[in-house]
Parts: sequence; structure tokens; C-alpha cells
Amino acid sequence: MSSDLEQLTQSARFWPTGLWLAVTTLLVGFFAWLLFGAEDKSWLLIGESSHGHYQIELSCESCHTSPFGGKEVLQKACEQCHAEALNEAHDSHPKKKFTDPRNADRLEALDARYCVACHQEHQNEYTDAMGVTLPGDFCVDCHKDIAKERPSHQGMAFDTCASAGCHNYHDNRALYEDFLVTHATETSFAGKQPRRNALERYLEKQTLHSTRTAPLGAADASAPADALQNAPTVEAWANSAHALSGINCGACHTNDSNPMAPDRADDTRHAGWQNTPDITGCRNCHENQWQGFTQGHHGMRLDARLAGNKNKPASPLQVADARLPMNPDAGHQSLTCNSCHDPHEPDLKKAATEACLGCHADKHSQNFNRSPHGQLWQQALVDTRDIESAVSCATCHMPRLLGEQGAIHVEHNQSSTLRPNEKMIRPVCMNCHSLSESIDALADPLLIERNFDRQPAGHILSIEMALKRAAPAK
Ligand code: HEC
Ligand code: HEC
Ligand code: HEC
Ligand code: HEC
Ligand code: HEC
Ligand code: HEC
Ligand code: HEC
Ligand code: HEC
Ligand code: HEC
Ligand code: HEC
Repeated sequence: MSSDLEQLTQSARFWPTGLWLAVTTLLVGFFAWLLFGAEDKSWLLIGESSHGHYQIELSCESCHTSPFGGKEVLQKACEQCHAEALNEAHDSHPKKKFTDPRNADRLEALDARYCVACHQEHQNEYTDAMGVTLPGDFCVDCHKDIAKERPSHQGMAFDTCASAGCHNYHDNRALYEDFLVTHATETSFAGKQPRRNALERYLEKQTLHSTRTAPLGAADASAPADALQNAPTVEAWANSAHALSGINCGACHTNDSNPMAPDRADDTRHAGWQNTPDITGCRNCHENQWQGFTQGHHGMRLDARLAGNKNKPASPLQVADARLPMNPDAGHQSLTCNSCHDPHEPDLKKAATEACLGCHADKHSQNFNRSPHGQLWQQALVDTRDIESAVSCATCHMPRLLGEQGAIHVEHNQSSTLRPNEKMIRPVCMNCHSLSESIDALADPLLIERNFDRQPAGHILSIEMALKRAAPAK
């Protein structure tokens, strides 16, 4: 603030005030027009956008919601999209920690009240993993006395605090001392039945089925005659969870305000028949999956939080626009619910691995089928193994979560367990492995690239350190 004032008075000294004001107004106006008025904004981008945001980079108003207000405006935008997830992760360094006057002195080195102190934008060449634009040893700014408080930290370099298996800045749910101590002595469950019965309960739970009583068969299909001539489609639908739950063709193919209303053979709703309906219809019945999908990398361009923007991305992500290596055959595809689910014949096993490998072609993905997890999955596909004790791509990237009131749903935001990768430990690995094994495996980047085909190369001492501190030697 004071520097703005200083600049203002300095400039005013050399410029006639009137002219200065006019020029400033023009400049601000021009900038506002650029951000909010201009049609094609690609030439305005002042630098390559980060991995997390490149898909929405041309929707400038997502972040610059107003041309005025500076930092606070950006802060609000970041919070609008990220605050909920950070809260759920019990963020170890929330803003309120730094608005607390007792910690005010810490802000001199780094104003951690603002996201942009650590996450700038439009300079991908200087941006590290997870959008971080700070040197790796920045923890020193506030924790330089840590070795005094914790002799175990003597001699540790500050660029190792946030290395895998030790600490994260925001999400430490799998790394808190209490958690490490509680799970210190657990042994591996790999090879045995998964521990948590959430998986089994998922299978029992048929929440939506119960809303419709009468399953439908091919003869019940209700659609205009030319659509019904498509025998394979009708047949596929008749065997699907949709037909079994009484969901007829019109539920997806017409703009129906009450999609669960009974569908009759003499249905007048065929009037609004659309031959290739878009996936917004899926949302009528699958809100939860829609929410997850639109908050991760796959569906973020369809996120409702962009809805107020004139320049919100109009189309789903095209595979050809990806930055990660993709299967060239998939280049023409775009990402919708149908990328993984055939709308007439949704098959959850196909969706969990085969669909993914239709697009993803990085080394990690390509190594999956050869890995022990991949082998378990092959066995499960030919029914020689219980599917719940096997591991698919979706087991790790789209885990089944226990929600409120015991309901289980599939997390459709495939970024939610991705980074930092310790996020995967609690909802995924610990169903089958010990905490210690999981930490070690996820701290080994080469092992991740190989898709977990052997023992981890090293061992992280976090658990031992936590145990020692909890029960100091006498
Ligand atoms: C994902 C959020 C996001 C999007 C989308 C975005 N920006 Fe930014 N922009 C930022 C952040 C963060 C900064 C850095 C602010 C800082 O360093 O204090 C920034 C800085 C800028 C700056 C430098 C001036 C300033 O305010 O600091 C300009 C100019 C700018 N952006 C233009 C654009 C334009 C034009 C678009 C659309 C083509 C766009 N931005 C899209 C987040 C975004
Ligand atoms: C319109 C919604 C939206 C806004 C506004 C937004 N983000 Fe994001 N951001 C996303 C999505 C979606 C992702 C990708 C999914 C994920 O990683 O959670 C993402 C990813 C990220 C990542 C992780 C990148 C990675 O590679 O793992 C960081 C860090 C981040 N955002 C910080 C910010 C900051 C700081 C701001 C404000 C300047 C901001 N975001 C504004 C939606 C948004
Ligand atoms: C003092 C630096 C700092 C500040 C301030 C900061 N972050 Fe981060 N952020 C990091 C670091 C470091 C990481 C890398 C992962 C980790 O250590 O937690 C990260 C990772 C992330 C991620 C991806 C990983 C995850 O846990 O979801 C998101 C999203 C994110 N930050 C959003 C934000 C938002 C939004 C704000 C502001 C409310 C913010 N950050 C403020 C340092 C910071
Ligand atoms: C801008 C100042 C600041 C920075 C930068 C910072 N911290 Fe902190 N950190 C704090 C404050 C304040 C607390 C709470 C008081 C305390 O424990 O000292 C805290 C607490 C912690 C705790 C205890 C968490 C808890 O919930 O009990 C850990 C662990 C931690 N920080 C690790 C880190 C790591 C790792 C980094 C770098 C990635 C980092 N901090 C960067 C200010 C900061
Ligand atoms: C769960 C939602 C859903 C149900 C139920 C459904 N469809 Fe579809 N159908 C779609 C979607 C979505 C598309 C568009 C696919 C695309 O764009 O590739 C589609 C495409 C079609 C097409 C054109 C493309 C093709 O596959 O030949 C026909 C014809 C069709 N459906 C007929 C039917 C008939 C007949 C029924 C009932 C027996 C039915 N559909 C039930 C969602 C559904
Ligand atoms: C009129 C409501 C309705 C609409 C619209 C709808 N679904 Fe469904 N869907 C259901 C019901 C009911 C089930 C059965 C749920 C269950 O098994 O508990 C279901 C099940 C599913 C399943 C799980 C299949 C299985 O084998 O268990 C998938 C995947 C699915 N739907 C995808 C879609 C997609 C993609 C669309 C949009 C093209 C869509 N649905 C549109 C109601 C709907
Ligand atoms: C139609 C193609 C397609 C299908 C099918 C598909 N993906 Fe993706 N996936 C993408 C694209 C494109 C991206 C964005 C990549 C980028 O931004 O460079 C992506 C992003 C991701 C990311 C985030 C990567 C990152 O670094 O942020 C993960 C994880 C992921 N997909 C896993 C999966 C899994 C698991 C499946 C199957 C359940 C799957 N995908 C199915 C195309 C696909
Ligand atoms: C990247 C691939 C992918 C995309 C895109 C995708 N799904 Fe799924 N979906 C899956 C996988 C994999 C499962 C099953 C996971 C399992 O069995 O554990 C699943 C399960 C489901 C289920 C049944 C389980 C549940 O959550 O209750 C429904 C319903 C569903 N998806 C609907 C949708 C809808 C609607 C969309 C679009 C908004 C969508 N899916 C987009 C991969 C995907
Ligand atoms: C045992 C758990 C596990 C399985 C199984 C798994 N992944 Fe991953 N995946 C991870 C972890 C951990 C990461 C790395 C996250 C990080 O640290 O950046 C990752 C990263 C990724 C990325 C981002 C790669 C990049 O370079 O940014 C994609 C895409 C991905 N996985 C897709 C898949 C697909 C597709 C499959 C199945 C063929 C699969 N994964 C199987 C755990 C798994
Ligand atoms: C559904 C259960 C299950 C889940 C979930 C699971 N695994 Fe596994 N994992 C196994 C089984 C079973 C094996 C094979 C064990 C064997 O051959 O001794 C295995 C093997 C491994 C191996 C190879 C060990 C070796 O000696 O070759 C690693 C590493 C591994 N898992 C890491 C992970 C990580 C990290 C996660 C979480 C991201 C995870 N797993 C999630 C069941 C699971």
C-alpha cells in the first residue's frame, strides 16, 4: 500500500497531475478490456501456465475476477476453488495461523497469508511440482530453530523437510506424529483380504436401484422407431445397470426435468429426442460423480465455478491438448463421462484400467500390466481372484470412499489422491499394506515410474523418529 502511494507521489511530481490521471485511467481501462472484453486472449498470456491450470488459462477471469483489488482478489479466487479441499486436508499452515498476531513476525520473510507468496502463475519454467514457485529450502524462513527443539533434526538440510515421507506444507494427514505412532507396528496385509469392509459394503449398497422397482428388458425400450432399430444398442442397454434399475432411453435422450418419472411405451417425451445427448444429463442422477469429475484434471474445464465467466472454456479437454504422453490413437477424443463409460453398457471393470490405457501412455501407466498389482488385476478379470483384493488404476486414482451415513462412492476427481502422493496412503495403500511400506514405496520415484514392481529402494525413518520421541530412552 505504502509503496503504491510512494509511486503515486513520485510520478505526480514529474507529471502534470491531470495528464498523469488520464494516462493511468486509460491504462487501467485498457488492462480491464484485455482481461474482460477482448475475445481471443491467447496472445495476452504473459507466460506458460502451470500444470494445474493450463486448461483454464484463457479464462482469465477465473483468477483475475476484477481488474482492481490486486492480491485480495486473486486470494479470493484461489480460495473459491481450493479452500474446501485444503480444509478437508486439515491444512497444517492455514491462513489463520498467520493472521494470529503471535506469528506476525514470521511474515517478514514470507507473507504466507497469501497463496501467491508461494504459487505464482504464468512462469512455468520456474515452477516446481505442485505449482510451487519458491526455493526448496523455504521452510527455513520460519523454522530455523527446529534443531534446538528437536535434536533428531540436527544437521538436516532445509531442502529435505518437505521431501517424500517427511512433511508436507499443507496436507500431513498420513504424516502426523500421532498417526505414525498409532500405525507403527502394523504388518502388511498384502495378499490377504483387504482390511476395510468399506469395499464389501460398497457391493451391497445399491442405493439408486431401490428408487425404481421394476427392471426393464429389451421389449420395454421406449424410443423413436429409428433409434430402436439399433439392435446392439438396445441389447446393450437391456443388460446394463440402467435397464436393471428401470432407467429407460428417454431418461438420457430427452431434456427431462424429472428423469426418474416412469417411462411409458406411449411416451410423449420422445418429442424432445436427441440422438447424441451430451453428458449434462448424467448429472441429473449422478451429482456426486459429476462434482468429482469437474474438480480434477479430467473434467475441470466443465467446472461450475467457472460458470460466471464470459470466457469460460466451452468444451471438454481434448486429449490432443494434453501435456502428458498420450496414446496417439486417442488424440481425437475429448474427456467426458463416456470416455470411461459406454453410456449403454457401463462396465466398471473396463472403466478401471482398460479405458485409462486407451489414453495414457506415460511409462508409469504402461508398466502397470507387468506389475504385481497388474497381475492381480488380470487374475480378477478372469475370475480367479476376488476383484476386491486386486488393484486397478482406479483403486489408486479413483478410490471408493466412505461418505456420510455410510454411503460409498467412487472418487471421480483423479487428482484428489495424486499429489503430494502421501494423500494415497490412507484411502488406498493402507487397505492392504502397512504404513511404513506405503511411505517407503511412495518416496521412491523410480518405483512409481515402474508402477510398484518391487521393494522400495530406501527406508524413511519418520516412524522410528516419532516412536523415539513418544517414548524417549531412559
Ligand atoms: C489460475 C489462475 C490464473 C489465470 C487463469 C490467469 N492468471 Fe494472470 N496471474 C495469476 C497469478 C497468481 C499472478 C501473479 C500475481 C503475483 O505474482 O502477485 C498473475 C499475474 C498476471 C499478470 C501480471 C500483473 C499482475 O496482476 O500481477 C498479468 C498481466 C496477468 N496475470 C494476465 C493474465 C491474462 C491476460 C490471463 C488470461 C489470458 C490470465 N492472467 C489468467 C493467476 C492467473
Ligand atoms: C476455477 C477454479 C480454480 C482457480 C480460480 C484456481 N485453481 Fe488451482 N487448480 C484448479 C484445478 C481444477 C486444479 C487441478 C486439480 C488439482 O490439482 O486439484 C488446480 C491445481 C492447483 C495446484 C496444484 C498443481 C499441481 O500441479 O498439482 C495449485 C498449487 C493451485 N491450483 C493453486 C492455486 C492458486 C494459488 C490459485 C489462485 C491464484 C488457484 N489455484 C486458482 C482450479 C482452480
Ligand atoms: C508458504 C508457502 C505456501 C503458501 C502460502 C501456500 N502454499 Fe500451497 N503449496 C505449498 C507447497 C510447498 C506445496 C507442495 C506440497 C506440500 O508441501 O504440501 C503446495 C501445494 C499446494 C497444492 C497441491 C497439493 C495439495 O495438497 O493439494 C494446492 C492445491 C495448493 N498448494 C493451494 C494453495 C492455496 C489455495 C493457497 C492459499 C490459500 C496456498 N496453497 C498457499 C506452499 C504454499
Ligand atoms: C511463513 C512461516 C512458515 C513457513 C514458511 C513454514 N511454516 Fe511450518 N509452521 C509455521 C507456524 C507459525 C507453525 C505453528 C507454530 C509452530 O509450530 O511453530 C508451523 C507449524 C509446522 C508444523 C507443525 C504442524 C502441526 O500441525 O502441528 C510442521 C510439521 C511444519 N510447520 C513444517 C513446515 C515445513 C515442512 C515447511 C516448509 C515446507 C514449513 N513448515 C514452512 C510457520 C511456517
Ligand atoms: C444412461 C444414458 C443413456 C441411456 C439410458 C440410453 N442412451 Fe442412447 N446414448 C446416450 C449417450 C450419452 C449417447 C451419445 C454417445 C456419443 O455422443 O458418442 C447416446 C447415443 C445413442 C444413439 C446414437 C449413437 C449410437 O450409439 O448409435 C442411439 C441410436 C441411441 N443412443 C439409442 C438409445 C436407445 C434406443 C436407448 C434405450 C434402449 C438408449 N439409447 C438409452 C445415453 C443413453
Ligand atoms: C435417470 C437417472 C440416470 C441417468 C440420467 C443416468 N444414470 Fe447412470 N445410473 C442410474 C441408476 C439408477 C444406476 C444404478 C445404480 C446402482 O447400481 O445402484 C446407474 C448406474 C450407473 C453406472 C454404474 C454401472 C454399474 O454397472 O454399476 C454408471 C457407470 C453410470 N450409471 C453412468 C451413467 C452415465 C455415463 C450417464 C450419462 C450418459 C448416466 N449414468 C445417466 C441412473 C441414471
Ligand atoms: C479419453 C482419454 C482419457 C481416459 C480414458 C483417461 N484419461 Fe486420465 N487424463 C487424460 C488427459 C488428457 C489428462 C490431462 C493430462 C495433462 O494435463 O497433460 C489426464 C489426466 C489424468 C491424471 C492427472 C495427471 C497429472 O499429472 O495431473 C491422472 C492421475 C489420470 N488422468 C488417471 C486416469 C485414470 C486412472 C484413468 C482410468 C480410470 C484415466 N485417467 C482415463 C486422458 C484420459
Ligand atoms: C477416467 C474414467 C472415468 C470417467 C471420466 C468417469 N468415470 Fe465413472 N467410474 C469410473 C470407474 C473406474 C468406476 C468404478 C470404480 C470401481 O469399481 O471401484 C466408476 C464408477 C461410476 C459409477 C458407479 C459407482 C459410484 O460412484 O456409485 C457411476 C454412477 C459413475 N461412475 C458415473 C460417472 C459419471 C456420471 C461420469 C461423468 C460425470 C463419470 N462416471 C466419469 C471411471 C470414470
Ligand atoms: C498402486 C497405486 C497406483 C496404481 C495401481 C496406478 N498408479 Fe498412477 N500414480 C500413482 C502414484 C503414486 C503416482 C505419482 C504421483 C506423484 O508423486 O506425482 C501416479 C501418477 C500417475 C499419473 C501422472 C503421471 C505424471 O507423469 O505426471 C498418471 C497419468 C497415472 N498415474 C495414471 C495411471 C494409470 C493409467 C494407471 C493404470 C494403468 C495407474 N496410474 C496405476 C499410483 C498408482
Ligand atoms: C487391494 C490391496 C492392495 C492395495 C490397495 C495396494 N496394494 Fe500394493 N500390493 C498388493 C499385493 C497383494 C501385492 C503383491 C504382494 C506380493 O507379491 O508379495 C502388492 C505389491 C506391492 C509392491 C511390490 C512389493 C514387492 O515386494 O514386489 C509395492 C511396492 C506396493 N504393492 C505398493 C503399494 C502402494 C504404494 C499402494 C498404494 C498407493 C498399494 N501398493 C496399494 C495389494 C495392494
